[in-house]
Formats: sequence, structure tokens, C-alpha cells
Amino acid sequence: MFKRNYNTRIFFVLFGISVIVFSLSLAYFLSGFENRVFIGGIILLISLGLSSFLSKKLSEPIEKLNEAVKRISRGDFDYQLNITDSKELRELSENFNSMARDLSQSYKKLKEQTESLIQQNEELQEFNAELEASYEQLEALTHELEISERKYRLLVENIRDILWVTDKNFIIEFVNSRVIRYLNYTPHELIGKSIFEIVDEDSREILKNMMEGKINFSEINFKSKEGLLVITETYVKRLKIDEEVVGIQGISRDITEIYYVKKQIAEKNNEILAISDVGKLLTSGSDIKEVLNNIVEKVAELLNSPLCTIREYNPYFHKFVLLVKGGELKDYPVSEEIKLSEEDINELVNLKEIKIKDIEEFPCSEKITPIFAAKDVYSVVIVPLIFRNETKGILTVWTATNTVKNMSLLRSIASAVSVAIENSKLYDEIKKVYIKTIEALAYAMEAKDLYTKGHSMRVSQYAVLIGEYMGFSREKIEQLRIAGILHDIGKIGISDTILLKKGKLLEEEYNVIKSHPEISKKILMPIDLPKEILEAISKHHERYDGKGYPYGLKGEEIPIEAAILGVTDAFDAMTSDRAYRKGMTIEEAINELLKYKGTQFHPEVVDAFISLYMNEKHRLEEIKNQVFSNAS
Ligand SMILES: [Fe+2]
Ligand SMILES: [Fe+2]
Repeated sequence: MFKRNYNTRIFFVLFGISVIVFSLSLAYFLSGFENRVFIGGIILLISLGLSSFLSKKLSEPIEKLNEAVKRISRGDFDYQLNITDSKELRELSENFNSMARDLSQSYKKLKEQTESLIQQNEELQEFNAELEASYEQLEALTHELEISERKYRLLVENIRDILWVTDKNFIIEFVNSRVIRYLNYTPHELIGKSIFEIVDEDSREILKNMMEGKINFSEINFKSKEGLLVITETYVKRLKIDEEVVGIQGISRDITEIYYVKKQIAEKNNEILAISDVGKLLTSGSDIKEVLNNIVEKVAELLNSPLCTIREYNPYFHKFVLLVKGGELKDYPVSEEIKLSEEDINELVNLKEIKIKDIEEFPCSEKITPIFAAKDVYSVVIVPLIFRNETKGILTVWTATNTVKNMSLLRSIASAVSVAIENSKLYDEIKKVYIKTIEALAYAMEAKDLYTKGHSMRVSQYAVLIGEYMGFSREKIEQLRIAGILHDIGKIGISDTILLKKGKLLEEEYNVIKSHPEISKKILMPIDLPKEILEAISKHHERYDGKGYPYGLKGEEIPIEAAILGVTDAFDAMTSDRAYRKGMTIEEAINELLKYKGTQFHPEVVDAFISLYMNEKHRLEEIKNQVFSNAS
């Protein structure tokens, strides 16, 4: 409305101007030329005045409005527009002022909001800065983590041990690539499989114990893809979630090489110990058979052999004669003599090589062969016993085929045994020669007196018979035989005037005679005879009631061998002729023995003698008569 009214007024003003311009123009064309300049000037002045007035009148509110707009645009929202020219302009002025107020309020609000925004922005910037800092930190940490993870991965992959993780059912969840090198599996091939598939049976039990927490370190034997055993030292940690075991993680170090080196060292050590043991056995006894018995038992134990023998080689008949046998099957009969093929003899005797023969090809008792098979024993190792470059015998060891690795031990033992056998033989020879010499001396001494000739031999023979009746071992009987022959050897040291004196001896002469057991002992001491022989000789004049000499021993203090010699010595003395008397008959002598049983003589020995007399009197007579014929 305002716009229309305002426009109308402008329209009328312009319209008036146009009417004037038109009137003047008309007057211009109607008037003469002389007045044209004057009239034009008048019209121009009127137009200018009118225009100036109109423009001033019209532009004043506009200028005010313009000023107001400028002030407001500069932020002076309190500026009030005051135009009162017309109703429309007044309304415009009021509306403008109202708008300025609204604008002022909006500006204030906006300003407040802006300030708030600025504050928020500042806070946001601060937060952003913090965030940026955090992000940088995070980035740095991530970087470190990446480096650390990379290092860890490198460590896990390049570590020389196998790292593995299983769940509680032993299913492999992780294994590092080191497993390729040691077991020839890829991790991909193993993940999802049971770890039990790649360890041996014993190790499965160990792993179960590890899962239960009973142990956390042990040897675990893995099996490679090709089935080869890889021995490891394994350390295990149990994995738990909320106190519940969910699996185990292990680190396994390959110690196969070390294990075998250690094993080799242990085996060598055992060999050394075994050789040392055998060495000790070689010097443990005076009897070579006892020594060899101990050795075969030791070899059987060392090589886990059920039977081990030592045989002597007879080069004339090419036979191997059994000396000793040991091991758990030693009580089974084995051939006393065996013959080997020419090829075997050549290898053992000429080439002196160890032979391993199939059990079927080696001659031994048929009864024993099935027992070997039942014990998984299929081979016989035959080791030549070489002395001074000659095969003197063989050591045979029945065993499983894997005994080959103990060859060096067998050679060492065989060498020691050969030396022992030969030394023993040499020693036996020397001993035999010595005993023979002493025997010869004893016979020579007895020969001086016709009536005592053969005494020692007879005492020896009677003693052997009694030993048999009393159930003595062969060894003890042999001891009795030697003791009987040598029992009066001490008389060598007694002068003939006393020994051969006819008639009663003086006390001091008898005392000299009584020293002969002691002299015997001194003579025999250098030849390392078994102590039973020396005891029997030195105590053969002791009496059961303690009235004997030289020690006055009684009862069970007297060794049984000495007691036997005491009885047989007296029996021969009674049954032998003397220059001054005739010898008793066997029956008379037996009666004497019975008479002095329990006083002079050992009752058990007398009983054995009576038993001998009752059962085999002829053997007593043979001995007695044999000597009688010699003496005559
Ligand atoms: Fe005597
Ligand atoms: Fe005698």
C-alpha cells in the first residue's frame, strides 16, 4: 500500500514535470525564434529548481534510511530512524526501528552464541590437541608394538626350539616353523592334529602328566615324518582361563645329538667299569676256575646274555673244550666239546677275528635252542682268547644281534681272560713242580725208615675216602689229598737220630717231634696253598678232648680236614708194622678208633670211617696192602 502510494506520488510529480515540459515545449514551438533562448533558459531554471526541490524532498528520507542502514551495518543497533514525512515513511521508520531492535536482539543472541561457540571451539581445539597428542602416542605405541610383534614373530620363527601349543585334548593349535627342520612337517600339516601322533608312547604319558601339572620339564621323544626319533628336552606351561586349564604350551629343544653323545660316553664309561670289574675278578681268587666262573657271570650280566662260556682250544683235535659257563641258563646241559667248521677255525685261530654266528649254525645242546628263541636270542658271538699271538680258546656269548656294538668291550675282556688263563696255567705248573719236589722230599725222608715208607701216601688215600664218605666237594677232597701227602713234611727238619731212634723217646726228643706240624706250615707257606690245606697239616695232631699239640685246640675248634688227617694218621700208624711191633689188623684199629671216639678222635670222622669200613672194607685193604708190598 505504502509502495503504491509512494509510487503514485512520484508518478504525479513526474507527471507534473512532464506537463510543464510539454507546455514549455509547445510554447517554444509556437513562439518566435527570438524568444526561444529566453524561454529555454526560463524552462531550464524552472526545471532545475523544481528538480532540485523534488530531489531533495524525495531523497531526504532515503538518506536517513541509508544513514540508518549504515549505522546498523556498523553495529549500532541502538540507532533510531525518525522519518515523519509521510505516513508511509513513518511506518517505514517504525518498521525499520523494530527491525533494528530485532536485529539488535538477534545480534546479541548471535554474539552470545558466537562467544559460546568460540568457547566451545576453543575447548574443542584443546580436546583436539589432546586427541592429536594421544593419537601420536598411540601411533608411537602401535609402531613399538609392531616392532615388538615383528621381533616376537622373528623370535618365534627363528628360535632354535620347537614352540607349540595344544588345547586340553592335546590337539595342536600352534607350532612354529622350526618343526619343519626337526620333524619335516610343516606347521600347517600339524595344526589340528593330536600331538600324540608325533610322540612315542612313553612321551604320551609324560604329556598327560604335564597337562595335569604333575611335572613341567622332561624328555619328550618326537617322531619325524620319516619315523626317526627326535629326542627333546621339553619345558611346558599350562594355559588357564579363569583357573581352568585349557591347554599347554611347550618349548622343545632338540638334544638328540647330545643324547647319543651322552649315551656313548655312558656306554664307554660302563665298558671301562666292566673292564675294571673283570680286572678285579681276575685277581679275586686263587683258583682260576673260580675266577673264570666269576668272569662269565659278569660278562653275561654286562651283555644281558642268558649263556656265556669259556672254552679251551685243543689244537691237535681242533676241539673247543668247555671250561666254565655262566648266565641264567648255565644249569642247562651244553656240549662239553664242540667242533667248528674249518672256515670258523680259520677265522678264530688263524685270523683271530671275532665271529658272530647264527644260533642255528652253532653246535650246542638241542634242549637249549628253543629256550634261546623264546628269549629273542638268535646269535652267538665268538671271541678268540689270544695269548702271545696264539688262540688259546674262545669266549662265547649268546645274545641278540645288537651286541656288535660291544665288540671293543669283548675284545678287552677276552684279552684279560687270555692272560689270566695263561698266567694261571703257568702258576699251576710252578705249583705242581713245587708240590712234586716236596712230595719227592717226603718220600725220600720216609724211605729212610722202612717202616714209615708210604705213610704219607696212605694217609692221603684214606683221607680222600673219608672225604668222599662225608660228602665233600671235589675241591675239598683234592685239598685232603694234598694235605695227606704233605702232612709230615716238617719232619724233614728233625734229625734222624730222633726220627729213627729205636726205643722210647726222651721228653725233649718228643718235644722236638711235636714241632713238626709247625715246621710243615713254614715249609709250605711260600706256595700259596689254600689255607684249608695248611690248617689241616698244622693241626693234624690236635685231639678232640684238647690234649693234642701244638695248640691244644678242642672239639669244633679243630678244622674238620685236620680231624680227618688225625684219624687217618693214627689208623695208618696202628696198622703199619714197626721194628718193635707188628701192625694191627684193620678191625683192631677200627676198635681203637671207636674206643677213642670223642676223646682223641672227632666222632663224625670216626663214624664216617666205620661206615667206610662197613661198606667198602676192600678199599681200606687195597691201600694197606699196596703199601705193604712197597715196604716189603
Ligand atoms: Fe704227624
Ligand atoms: Fe703222620
